[in-house]
Amino acid sequence: MNRVSAKDLFEKRGDEPIVMVAAYDAPSAEILDDVADIILVGDSVGNTRLGYDDTLPVTLDESLSHTAAVARGSERAMVVGDMPFASFGVSTERSAENAARYLKEAGAQAVKLETPVEGGVSVETVRRMTELGVPVMGHVGLTPQQVHRKGYKVQGRDEEEADAILERARELEEAGVFSVVLESVPESLGARVTDALGVPTIGIGAGREVDGQVLVLDDLVGLSDGTPTFVKEYADVRGVMTDAVKEYAKEVREGEFPSDEHIFGDSRDSKDDDTDGGDDR
Ligand code: KIV
Repeated sequence: MNRVSAKDLFEKRGDEPIVMVAAYDAPSAEILDDVADIILVGDSVGNTRLGYDDTLPVTLDESLSHTAAVARGSERAMVVGDMPFASFGVSTERSAENAARYLKEAGAQAVKLETPVEGGVSVETVRRMTELGVPVMGHVGLTPQQVHRKGYKVQGRDEEEADAILERARELEEAGVFSVVLESVPESLGARVTDALGVPTIGIGAGREVDGQVLVLDDLVGLSDGTPTFVKEYADVRGVMTDAVKEYAKEVREGEFPSDEHIFGDSRDSKDDDTDGGDDR
């Protein structure tokens, strides 16, 4: 099966909004594969799944490992690996080598880089990656890897800052990015950047006038412990999981689990000896 490509996204622009979800493992990828155009293996894995306070400690190996799991769990959606802090931007050659690992080793089709207006990564580095054949998605507005410099705040509220974000997005397009994520900016700036660019924009807290939307899976299904204001929670998975493990613990303590249907008897033909119940486990 062919995966969604940068060309498909470009052609879709203006017809139908692009759906991107950040997710980190194979079962989530299986669920998302028919639904999302892009699965972003966000460095948000640091806060959501790895127990870090922010995204900065996420290592390249952790990110590659989660990206490979998502690639194994999907066959249709485009898989984009989100390069963690300092795995890019230190030197152009090292950045390009690291970016290539997402395609060579992890089975991704593209990488995303946080590309704030203050720098962090040079336009030359983005160009080098794209020349090498690594499709790059940019990311402007709120860039969580800059938390110690800027905090987690809406960006581009004043005119100067908004112009700088727009200018940065233009530079990135020039350097060859196939798409740009816009995070936590006023809706009017989302619209301005979208109008100015020839490549699709994907917003998170960037309003409605963009080419697509992205949310973190854990936030949208209600697994995260607290979510940003721009998130809509479509389910209460944390509640469902909490109730399930409480019920299990209660049944174990009260001797109700395991019951007859969950044990193996002595007789060979009394029970199917296939412990996976027919699943490939
Ligand atoms: O790390 C991430 O999940 C992201 C998205 C929220 C855009 O960068």
